[in-house]
Amino acid sequence: MFASAARRLATVAATGVRTYASEAGAKKGGSSLPLFLGLAGAGAGLYFAKERGMLDDILGAPPTGSPAAAAAFKPDYNAVRSAIEDLLDTNPDYDDGSYGPVLVRLAWHTSGTYDKNTNTGGSNGATMRFAPEANWGANAGLSVARDLLEPVKQKFPWISDLWTLAGAVAVEAMGGPHIPWRPGRSDYAPEQFVALPDGRLPDGDKNAKHIRDIFGRMGFNDQEVVALIGAHTLGRCHSDRSGFEGPWTNAPTTFSNLFFKELTENKWHKKKWNGPLQYEDKSGQLMMLNTDMYLLWDKKFKPYVQQYAKDEEAFFRDFAAAFGKLLELGVPFKEDAPAAASPTPKQ
Ligand code: HEM
Repeated sequence: MFASAARRLATVAATGVRTYASEAGAKKGGSSLPLFLGLAGAGAGLYFAKERGMLDDILGAPPTGSPAAAAAFKPDYNAVRSAIEDLLDTNPDYDDGSYGPVLVRLAWHTSGTYDKNTNTGGSNGATMRFAPEANWGANAGLSVARDLLEPVKQKFPWISDLWTLAGAVAVEAMGGPHIPWRPGRSDYAPEQFVALPDGRLPDGDKNAKHIRDIFGRMGFNDQEVVALIGAHTLGRCHSDRSGFEGPWTNAPTTFSNLFFKELTENKWHKKKWNGPLQYEDKSGQLMMLNTDMYLLWDKKFKPYVQQYAKDEEAFFRDFAAAFGKLLELGVPFKEDAPAAASPTPKQ
């Protein structure tokens, strides 16, 4: 059976059909759109064929044929957690040596489309697999994260909460707080999917009103907004993704309150370059977005910035609560779902 499974996997590989992480290059021109739609459709088709059990024998899915066997199946989220952790540092040449930051950004962007007024968007459905969301400018570069997680989806095909779990695991693995997390999302079929309007995610060159409009729509207050944006202690901007360039701190693969320390203690001036408006420090090595600077300039945001710069414990506590809330926006948890089924973090 293993040999035939391998042959069938090879066929999948040879046809080039993706199963979960389908995306055209985010910055590709309009001419590639029909091709993308075709591939995304084929990928989604295969994915849902897999959901029906056709590939279960290859991928070790829970047995869908027998109701008794299916009822006995217990998803092992700790095994998924370990598989995600194992991926984080597999490529020393990628950015600063960890995929952690881009996984956190994926978890945030899949969740941050939520609109509390219409109860649309959010991480349920994994809708970023589909155009147009996959191709929004705001999501440029996130194919890296989705592709990275594809082998985990193949190994644990029953999981439909992978992107949010990966974000929570990445924060913890990089030294951050334990993020409350529970399963409950499903993967929408293409026909269930209603395209969201673009513009639900924030733009880095905008001001405090924009920040409040975007995060208010999700249901966050000022304190939660400041805590959440503290995630910019991780990772960096890429000129070939967002157009902005550089990291916010000198320790971009460690979760800490350094973003707030840099924001308050360093001196920031407009970067002179051909790119979009951003700020840099004297060394020219570190950066801030315009929206980051508004956390300091806005008199209601600022006290939280100052608090988190001084008190890392407070930041960790508030970030864990706000990020946990973000990941759950719009998810229709079952009434009997456990309050917090977070797998135990590895020590
Ligand atoms: C006003 C709100 C925000 C704006 C305008 C913003 C904007 C950006 C931009 C432009 C980038 C660079 C993307 C690239 O070029 O690769 C970025 C990266 C990142 N953002 Fe945000 N962001 C915001 C809020 C958040 C929140 C709430 C989180 C998480 C809770 C977050 C987590 C991250 C992370 C971890 C990265 C680094 C990704 C990497 O290294 O690949 N951001 N953000």
